[in-house]
Amino acid sequence: MLDLGRQYQPIHQELLAALDEVLETHQFILGGKVATFEQQAAQKLGAAHAIGCSSGTDALWLALASAGLGPGKAVVTTPFSFFASVSSILRAGATALLADIDPVTFNLSPAAVEKVLDSEKSKNIRAVLPVHLYGQPADFFPDFGKKHNVLLIEDAAQAWGAESNGVKAGALGDIAAFSFYPTKNLSAAGDAGMVSTNSDELAERAQMLRQHGMRRRYYHDEIGWNTRLDGFQGAVLSVKLKYIDGWNEGRRTVAARYQKLFIATGLAESGIYPEHGVILPKETAGHRSCWHQYVIRTQRRDELRAFLTERKIGSEIYYPVPLHLQKPLASLGYKEGDFPEAERASREVLALPIFPELREDEQQTVVAAIAEFLS
Ligand SMILES: Cc1ncc(COP(=O)(O)O)c(C=O)c1O
Repeated sequence: MLDLGRQYQPIHQELLAALDEVLETHQFILGGKVATFEQQAAQKLGAAHAIGCSSGTDALWLALASAGLGPGKAVVTTPFSFFASVSSILRAGATALLADIDPVTFNLSPAAVEKVLDSEKSKNIRAVLPVHLYGQPADFFPDFGKKHNVLLIEDAAQAWGAESNGVKAGALGDIAAFSFYPTKNLSAAGDAGMVSTNSDELAERAQMLRQHGMRRRYYHDEIGWNTRLDGFQGAVLSVKLKYIDGWNEGRRTVAARYQKLFIATGLAESGIYPEHGVILPKETAGHRSCWHQYVIRTQRRDELRAFLTERKIGSEIYYPVPLHLQKPLASLGYKEGDFPEAERASREVLALPIFPELREDEQQTVVAAIAEFLS
């Protein structure tokens, strides 16, 4: 599914040198390497500020808490994402409301969110948290926030380098959260995350909240948390930042090759839902995906996955259970049937191997196996 070794080998000396500098300077938490990374990351995103923290989950919490989205306020998000997209809203003390996804992009549907904004007026909805799922920007920018008077909190955990109408994910909304989990397209050597924003005020609050609400050492203005970024992770991320654009180009090449190979099998179907073959992922108008995942849709998904596993071909399901049907989120009050598109997607999606160094012959093996199974 993912061979991290192919990325690591060509840069391992550079990584070792950067880690050695951290050891020599003893700046293990925040410090120079983190500050440099934050500055370079903000510049690359075209955002005014970047604030490193200890995971993508913490970045989401930090973004929400910085924007004051706590008790008495509600945030609308998607049921088709990683658990943290919803749990971080609850952790911040706010109410989580859900709206269904668009069946083409799998992203939160603006029309479905508009319905929730209309029907749940009593809930004091202050923000929408779209996820740029699989690396494709969600459809909320640039106008949705202003039009509906809500903040837009981007879950950009899967979207380093993605763009919507020329603007990078992370600089689209009011504040954004990134994950640098080791399988992400820009990855650390452990847990790491980051918040980005164009707002001086939100950035200042995020910096304060990531260090136990301190603006001045040992004087606490608010109850924050410890969610600082390690020097080692800052060092690794700074090195990788030099290569990420090229790696993302590599992902585009891999995605385009899958497209060509699938079309040649005659199994690629047009339309929204699969019948006998596969629906291929699409980049929608104005969007540039970073192809964090290459996700096909097919009706016999579970059988196909078992077949691929038998052939030692990696695949993954992101995500097999929509969030409203996850046990710890039962208290949100939703039931099966409430979000039919998310429920259907969770039965039909299958992520295939994609990483910049994936070779054409390996992709041919994947597509040939799928064609053999489906025909
Ligand atoms: C969409 C999404 N949001 C949030 C997260 C949480 O990031 P982390 O694992 O770094 O806490 C992830 C990571 O898997 C994710 O994919």
